Amino acid sequence: MKKLGIQDLTVRDGNQSILATRMTRQHIKELAAVLDKVGFYSMEVWGGATFDSAYRFLKESSWEILRDIRKAAPNTKLSMLLRGQNIVGYQHYDNDILERFIRLTIENGIDIIRIFDALNDPNNMRNSIAFTKKYGGHVQAAIAYTVSPVHSNEYYAELVKMYESMGADSICIKDMSGIITPQNAYELVSAIKESSDLPLNLHSHTTANATALVMEQAMKAGVDVVDGCISPFSGGTSHLAVETLLEAAKLTDRDTDLDLDALSEAYEHANSIVNYYIESGDLRVRSLIPNPKILTYQVPGGMLSNLISQMEQQGAANRMNEVLKEIPNVRKDMGYPPLVTPLSQMVGTQAVLNVLFGDRYKMIPTEIKNYVQGLYGKFPGDPDPDIVEKVMAQIPDKKTPVPPEDLPYVYEDNKKVMTEFLGREPDEEEVVAYSIFPAPVRTYYEEKELGMKVEETPVKQESAPAKASAPVANNPAPSSADAANPAPVLNPSGTSAAYDSDVAYDLVVDGTVYRLTIIS
Ligand code: CO
Repeated sequence: MKKLGIQDLTVRDGNQSILATRMTRQHIKELAAVLDKVGFYSMEVWGGATFDSAYRFLKESSWEILRDIRKAAPNTKLSMLLRGQNIVGYQHYDNDILERFIRLTIENGIDIIRIFDALNDPNNMRNSIAFTKKYGGHVQAAIAYTVSPVHSNEYYAELVKMYESMGADSICIKDMSGIITPQNAYELVSAIKESSDLPLNLHSHTTANATALVMEQAMKAGVDVVDGCISPFSGGTSHLAVETLLEAAKLTDRDTDLDLDALSEAYEHANSIVNYYIESGDLRVRSLIPNPKILTYQVPGGMLSNLISQMEQQGAANRMNEVLKEIPNVRKDMGYPPLVTPLSQMVGTQAVLNVLFGDRYKMIPTEIKNYVQGLYGKFPGDPDPDIVEKVMAQIPDKKTPVPPEDLPYVYEDNKKVMTEFLGREPDEEEVVAYSIFPAPVRTYYEEKELGMKVEETPVKQESAPAKASAPVANNPAPSSADAANPAPVLNPSGTSAAYDSDVAYDLVVDGTVYRLTIIS
């Protein structure tokens, strides 16, 4: 009987997918402790959106939470999700910050670093892979799974070979939207297994509700590790329950040696914790309802439910279908990027703008302009030449792509800035956090350490240029908003805290303000 590993994702992806990363530090600790006894192959506990969210929403240091988790779960390998050169943010960071981040991550207890790039561009993975190996971490190279005329199983199998040659220790098929079919799960796992001997992990969200079949087929095809969440945090935009994975394993003659008593105990504890989030409203019923439509639109579950609820709140739910139909069009225009952070937010925002303006690419966010100029890396397919021309015509000062390793170092400058506002010398981990998320990290220290009360700046509704601090990517160029035009006006929502995470915009259409915060 071939062994099957199960990775539990409750503390990171479960938390991110159905609780919008609002799980408290105390609950994270408690869950890590009970899940540690189950005997999982590994537990994904950190990274992705949880880093930012710790400072911004929990008002905690993400590094301290990581140390808590390591202490609470001494027996299980811990894994984290890294966005390649984007680290845990939304833009490329310099190699010095990347290397410090990876070293600190491993020093603080992470064993496995799952690395992906939204465009599947190996050049955006190279440095993260090298640094992870340098500090003794396990490199799990993840392919962002999508379906398009330029993405085939052969393409993915080639990509796997490339990652293997770059030093990957294992591979993950990262189906962030939950769009892989049972049949293709079988075929893709078989194709990758034929091209590489590396251990293979399948990650697939339950959004479309076919995941039990997907996992069964992947197990039949010889997948080595599968991802799931303890059942109270499973389903909907999250993942298949660990308990269901065990049934699928039995069906396919795969051997898992989890401690079922410990699993049952972990279930009881998780079940008591989940009540808190049902009552707080962080766990919304809507996120648990299956959505087979994503098979057509390929929108990640979190992004879809977020878009729907926002459009509903604005009384513009009737335009949601137009937005959903526009998303695949924008994606095609851009050369079929996988819809994963940050591309999901960018494509989603452009689709909303195209629909609300009634004129495609009349308003173009800076990120899309940067993308078209190649600043995010290599396009999966060729972008539409007419659209490229239209976008380029709206960029007065064009930029040339810089290889990530050539980006200027910011550590020393940021250390000086922090020393000034803290009145003491900051630790390395503090400077690294600040370098990735300047606004929320600064606010965190001002409130926590300096006892300041940081007020949110009221949202402006005129088309004044937004004052974004330097390292921030989502500052739509005001030049593209024609103030004389009565049509919509676009501003990034006012607070600096809204900047470097969610793509947040206020759209004014005929005097109505639409606040859009697009997450995935
Ligand atoms: Co995921």
